[in-house]
Amino acid sequence: MCGIVAYIGHREAYPILIKGLSRLEYRGYDSAGVALINGSLNIYKKKGKVADLENETAGKNVSGKLGMGHTRWATHGEPNDANSHPHLSQSGDVAIIHNGIIENYATLKEELGNRGHEFKSDTDTEVLVHLIEDVQQNTGCELEEAVRLALHEVVGAYAIVIISKNDPAKLIGARKGSPLVVGIGDGEYFMASDASPIIEYTKNVTYLNDGEMAFIKNGELTVKTIDNVVQTPYIQTLEMNLEAIEKGGYEHFMLKEIHEQPKSIYDSLRGRFNPQTGSFAMRSLKEYEGKIKNLNRIIIVGCGTSWHAGLVGEYLFEEISRIPVEVEYASEFRYRNPVVGEDDLVIAISQSGETADTLAAIELAKEKGATIFGLCNVVGSSIPRASHAGAYTHAGPEIGVASTKAFTAQVSILTLLAFGFAELRGKATKQDLRNAFAELESMPAKVEKTLQCEEKVKQLAEWIKDANNVLYLGRGYGFPVALEGALKLKEISYIHAEGYPAAEMKHGPIALIDENMPVIVVATKNSIYEKVISNIQEVKARKGKIIAIVTEGDDKVKKMADHVIEVPETSEFLVPLIATIPLQLLSYYVAVSRGCNVDQPRNLAKSVTVE
Ligand code: AGP
Ligand code: GLU
Repeated sequence: MCGIVAYIGHREAYPILIKGLSRLEYRGYDSAGVALINGSLNIYKKKGKVADLENETAGKNVSGKLGMGHTRWATHGEPNDANSHPHLSQSGDVAIIHNGIIENYATLKEELGNRGHEFKSDTDTEVLVHLIEDVQQNTGCELEEAVRLALHEVVGAYAIVIISKNDPAKLIGARKGSPLVVGIGDGEYFMASDASPIIEYTKNVTYLNDGEMAFIKNGELTVKTIDNVVQTPYIQTLEMNLEAIEKGGYEHFMLKEIHEQPKSIYDSLRGRFNPQTGSFAMRSLKEYEGKIKNLNRIIIVGCGTSWHAGLVGEYLFEEISRIPVEVEYASEFRYRNPVVGEDDLVIAISQSGETADTLAAIELAKEKGATIFGLCNVVGSSIPRASHAGAYTHAGPEIGVASTKAFTAQVSILTLLAFGFAELRGKATKQDLRNAFAELESMPAKVEKTLQCEEKVKQLAEWIKDANNVLYLGRGYGFPVALEGALKLKEISYIHAEGYPAAEMKHGPIALIDENMPVIVVATKNSIYEKVISNIQEVKARKGKIIAIVTEGDDKVKKMADHVIEVPETSEFLVPLIATIPLQLLSYYVAVSRGCNVDQPRNLAKSVTVE
């Protein structure tokens, strides 16, 4: 949450900051602000979007070759102008932008207040910049040293950037728990929450580790720990290109990302399996093969859509690899003293690789001796770096707040892993793997074909756009799909939706069904197809309106349902990769026809780096 971007160099900072903030806006959009130094320190900040900030700065002095910008997802203090970042120190000379939470801000605020500090906002962030200046005034040290000392007083999570009117050749950043990447250009430097504001100018970056700070002083970069140990930064060259973070002719990122799925599934699998030989290769797992053979249990942790992918993982690993699996909300797992041991493998799933709860769950499991496998999309993010082994999903940047292509990429890799583990544990033969991998290889083409349902889905969206509630039902592999479909609808169209195991409906939700209730059922042909049909009948009997996702050519459900969406035939374990697609499109078109902001739904942010 919160996007941070900063610049120091030979160009005008403002255009770089505004463009960077627009790219980071997916991380938060409660308010936006910039600080620029050019003799004086000028701050502009505004509740609302980056576009509102641009209106605010029109005709004003935005010059300066040192500056920073922030787009906020509020944690402390309502989204208004005063609580927008940047925040200033008591003297007004030092400015801060911050992503995270200063947990002990109330105590610090009281102490500083007793020493005469006055605060202009309700944020936790403002307290930190007051503290930094207080330390500097009391010790007479350099600004970077004051930042370092002040961070020792702070409990919580942060990525911060600091600039000061009195130090116009200095840019200071630090991180603990929230991401910060430093871009190294030719005589210029950047800092940002992710690489998207940077790649246009340089592909050379270094990701700060937790507990590290970076400062640029007189054109030189220094990285050190907050315990004052100088580090040699690991500078890597990014492969990301500009097109990947632009809309490419689509009206919204979400629609672009839905359509990218044939490619993102292909990219996630590429080089990791061979359907001809039935072989499976995931480099980072090689040294854990002995462990996988003797695993007690797999625990999957994640949040939101990634948790739904985990649920698909549970069905896959239990059915195919015969390994007991537990799927946990990371936020529950981390605080409930779970029983975890050395014979457990924890799979942490996260698109962003930065979700605070998932990171904390990993740390807890590590302490208890488990091996951690991180399944993430954002290269260089915190979760892969905190894991023992892992795989990137290679779905490319996902910018729409509603996750789409990351989900199908996660599920693709979990499917590979389930078969790979099955072979290692003697539960599948090479021939089983050849068969499964051949099917997996055909998924990009099947997803492409599934996308042809778009026009039909668009019409159905008109039909359900005025509903107050929608129920999503599925069984077996269709159940996580139902949950994911409901989450997609809720988050971008603000229609209340529930995902439910189809048979569980009769234990409660059936009471909700009447002629006004649209019910979306995943009813593809599988081992419990007949059972799902009975559930459809139960809904019909109560006059519910049914949209069914069915296997191509299915006539039986067609006769009962009000509408059907046909998807290509596939093995049961691959249903989530196919059946999720029409539900993503449905939520997209419902949101569009309700006039909702699809890519930036209210109250949400793409990357949840606070707990
Ligand atoms: C998905 O559409 C959501 N916006 C959200 O649930 C998301 O999946 C969740 O916050 C987890 O994020 P992560 O995958 O980056 O960890
Ligand atoms: N806690 C800060 C605020 O509320 C930053 C929020 C965040 O990073 O999401 O302004």
